[in-house]
Amino acid sequence: MRIILVGWGVVGQSLAQICLHRKKELAKKYGFRPRIVAIVDKGGAAIDPKGLDLEQMLSLKKEKGTVAASKQYGCLGMSALEAIESVEAEAMVEVTPTNIETAEPGLSYIKTAFRTGKHVVTTNKGPLALALPALTELADYNNVYLRFSGTVGAGTPVLEFAKNCLQGDRIISVKGILNGTTNYILSEMDEKHITFDEALKAAQKLGYAEADPTMDVDGYDAAAKLVIMANWIMDKKVTIKDVKIRGIRDVSSQNIADAAKKGCTIKLIGSIEETLKVEPTQISKHDPLAVDGALNAVTFVSESAGEQTIIGLGAGGTETASAVLRDLLDIKQNIANKMIT
Ligand code: HSE
Repeated sequence: MRIILVGWGVVGQSLAQICLHRKKELAKKYGFRPRIVAIVDKGGAAIDPKGLDLEQMLSLKKEKGTVAASKQYGCLGMSALEAIESVEAEAMVEVTPTNIETAEPGLSYIKTAFRTGKHVVTTNKGPLALALPALTELADYNNVYLRFSGTVGAGTPVLEFAKNCLQGDRIISVKGILNGTTNYILSEMDEKHITFDEALKAAQKLGYAEADPTMDVDGYDAAAKLVIMANWIMDKKVTIKDVKIRGIRDVSSQNIADAAKKGCTIKLIGSIEETLKVEPTQISKHDPLAVDGALNAVTFVSESAGEQTIIGLGAGGTETASAVLRDLLDIKQNIANKMIT
């Protein structure tokens, strides 16, 4: 499979590492032979229709800051849109940062890939939070697949668990901790009896929270993930505008102490029932969702199978790259199945 990789940050580089180190196994076990024919970063692109040397691309990033510095394959200043339009490939992997306000530039990358007949795997929540119903229609119209497992739960297969493992059942409601940063902050406030500001500083020091922590602490990141789940798992045609969002800035040490007296804790819970909500919620310390640190946890209630909770890390380069790989394999299998039927 020829792949254009847009975004050469932690996730993109982790994907390259996996492709390099597990090359033989991926070919033998899954018949999957990824050929990354273009990589685009902030400095431009590197293009080789035969497949780029990934070791070399990783070194170039370390030494020169951009893959476009490659003497043989570099295209300094080439934009992602130009690369997506002009390079022949079966798929685009889009791993650029989330922009929850405009969804750009990821949204344009995805639309251009569709228009030029490429399947898309993305870890970018912006385009999905703002336009997932339209994007799934556009993918169908262009006869290509859109996959985004890494957007919810990073490597923890939250979307696949609901979509594939609970196949045939009807999911009635979902509730979960969808943001690791806020879970870390609330856990620290509870365990160490510290204030929100102190816990936020600790999260920033560990690299969990961004320098501008709005996406995490004000609940937008969790809301984006909730929208993705509602569309993908429950066929609800919703966007982030349909979510009632309240973050954790006003959760005080006193609120947490009061909850603890009742054997409870406060978590930022996203829920899908008749409406979509993200808000700080008091839950029992024995609830399966009462996970600590930067973990994510999601409980699905389904009509026949009952209640299940999936727990795992919700962030990280290698973890997210593993979800991208799963998506690529899923697309490959879907293409193969289509050929048979
Ligand atoms: N900032 C997110 C979190 C990670 O803290 O969970 C990526 O979705």
